[in-house]
Amino acid sequence: MSRLKDRIALVTGSGNGIGKATAQLFAAEGAHVHLADLDFAAADATAAVIREQGGNATAHATDVTQGQDVTALLRAIHAAHGKLDILVNNAGLNVRADFRHLTDAEWVKVREVNLDAVVRLARDGFEMLKASGRGSLINVASIMGSRAMRQLVAYSATKGAVAALTRGLAVEYAPYNIRVNTISPGFVQTALTKRVLRNPAIMDALVAETALRRLGETVEIARAVLFFASDDSSYCTGSELVVDGGMSASL
Ligand SMILES: NC(=O)c1ccc[n+]([C@@H]2O[C@H](COP(=O)([O-])OP(=O)(O)OC[C@H]3O[C@@H](n4cnc5c(N)ncnc54)[C@H](O)[C@@H]3O)[C@@H](O)[C@H]2O)c1
Repeated sequence: MSRLKDRIALVTGSGNGIGKATAQLFAAEGAHVHLADLDFAAADATAAVIREQGGNATAHATDVTQGQDVTALLRAIHAAHGKLDILVNNAGLNVRADFRHLTDAEWVKVREVNLDAVVRLARDGFEMLKASGRGSLINVASIMGSRAMRQLVAYSATKGAVAALTRGLAVEYAPYNIRVNTISPGFVQTALTKRVLRNPAIMDALVAETALRRLGETVEIARAVLFFASDDSSYCTGSELVVDGGMSASL
């Protein structure tokens, strides 16, 4: 269990859900994980559990939509390690609304977290990923980036943009041996999806649309993120790995 031995990793939104599972898996594989979350208490608690289990983890209070927070975060990692091997842009949120009623504030909120923050971290983290010599940048998008569902138009638009951004960055960062890939999860039960999945009719419909007839577990997404983070994916860049139990494949 040392696929990330001595690697320095940053996972945003790692206090909860998919990010938390990813941080825990990375630490179990030998990485020093930096957990950055708006919900500092959750990130700090996760980091404490990782350390209790013998891993290396540092929590940061970071709002990824705030440039000064991201600068402070990257400076702290630079001061501690001088490089960054793995950057996972995982923090995300959703605003459910009929598109014709979507307010400017709602659109800006979802765009700032799901897209603008990914742009900022991918740009400002470049030098440290380059210093790694084998950097891996992973953006967590969604199958909704290439599919449609009512009330998810804004979310889908940001996730589709993240997939396009990933392909562009893969080409631009390749000369520096930085690989850039996308994970597109299907439906996983987390705080993000809790409200919608509480509706039994929606839950049943989603399960029925999924070939494996169940939702995903956070660790099942984390394992896919680990694949892109590790040398197991050394020939992958600009790739999108869909992890959705066969939902996209089903008619
Ligand atoms: N759960 C799903 O079904 C699903 C499906 C497809 C894609 N995704 C994507 O996976 C990623 C993780 O989602 P999740 O389901 O684990 O959600 P979650 O709500 O459980 O966790 C998201 C984390 O991001 C943090 N966060 C939110 N805004 C932030 C900000 N401005 N700065 C820093 N941290 C912030 C939250 O505090 C939280 O800890 C998201 O990008 C989401 O869009 C989730």
